[in-house]
Amino acid sequence: MLSTRVLPPTAAAMEEAAAILRAGGVVAFPTETVYGLGANGFDAAACAKIYEAKGRPSDNPLILHIAHRAMLDEVALAVPEMAERLLAAFCPGPLTLVLRRRAAVPASITGGLATVGVRLPENDVARALIRAAGFPLAAPSANTSGRPSPTTAAAVLADLAGRIPLILDGGPCRFGVESTIVDVTGDAAVILRPGAITREMIEEVAGAVQLDPGLLAQERAARASGAEAVDEAGDALFDAAPRAPGMKYTHYAPCAPLTLIAAAPADLPAAFRRVLAEETGKAVGLLVTDETAAALADDAEGRFLVRLGARDDMHAIAARLYEALRAFDETSVSCIFGEALDENGLGLAVMNRLKKAAGYRIRSF
Ligand code: TXA
Ligand code: MG
Repeated sequence: MLSTRVLPPTAAAMEEAAAILRAGGVVAFPTETVYGLGANGFDAAACAKIYEAKGRPSDNPLILHIAHRAMLDEVALAVPEMAERLLAAFCPGPLTLVLRRRAAVPASITGGLATVGVRLPENDVARALIRAAGFPLAAPSANTSGRPSPTTAAAVLADLAGRIPLILDGGPCRFGVESTIVDVTGDAAVILRPGAITREMIEEVAGAVQLDPGLLAQERAARASGAEAVDEAGDALFDAAPRAPGMKYTHYAPCAPLTLIAAAPADLPAAFRRVLAEETGKAVGLLVTDETAAALADDAEGRFLVRLGARDDMHAIAARLYEALRAFDETSVSCIFGEALDENGLGLAVMNRLKKAAGYRIRSF
């Protein structure tokens, strides 16, 4: 077993991290979305260590992180005009573009696809690390496959201690949900994974934008198979596989089963009281906005309650989301009830992660 060191990003630590990467090793590093687990994106053997450390299925492609626009041409072919516009508008930032892959990018890191996901992060530590290494960094989120993504160095350590040599600690991530993934290989942009660059923002730059039908089909398939049966809906989920391969897997899930409670804001406290009444005597977790927490007051007594933040501050909710989900794993709760949120703007990304964490178990009131 390796001993995993956690270091602030001093000049010495950055040089050490770059040396590990140049020697074909892996390093966890901060980005503005979530922490990534990086390796040389041109080196299939180095990238194999990412899959091994995370326990990630080998058909799930990695995205490449670049430090500047010129690096894009080393990994992608024929960057379309629409991609240039999106780059100019939102990069550096939390956006990943799916483009045609150059042969220099090993097929084994793209799950055999002819395309590659590329992202130009905004985070200074991430960019300095890519520059110091001298090559694009392949980096998925630095969590164990299936767990909530890490938004702090401590969360990376909780998952990957003993499996990786070094974590650069850049503090908590600004956005807290993974980048928006947009496929720009066709005529119209297609959102494969919603994120902090919202559908509305992309539409302003790229015109009409589609949501990957696979994202919605996955949800429908889970619901059609019955609210209680969604755990067994694996086959249905696979049939409706979204085009970002990773989106088909159960994800972001705390250990105890999570059920989302959907109701108009005014009806939420009553809906939560009702489900709590059904679970008397059980150790129940609650994941709610500040407003619902305040309205529940005494009714939440003795429950493990995690506040997401104010309902109208979706940025704060996104930034807290994964830490909130992880908090339940430090407790002995046997089930969790979470508040379904508004799906506009950044809410679409937050609800996408919450629904996946809940295995699409949603009770509407
Ligand atoms: O914000 C982020 O994107 C973070 C930070 C570390 O940059 N990274 C991240 O990577 O979320 P990962 O591997 O956890 O998620 C990447 C997603 C997966 O669902 C994967 O299947 C999809 O992107 N993906 C990668 N390459 C793709 C491609 N060529 N076509 C379609 N989907 C792709
Ligand atoms: Mg991930």
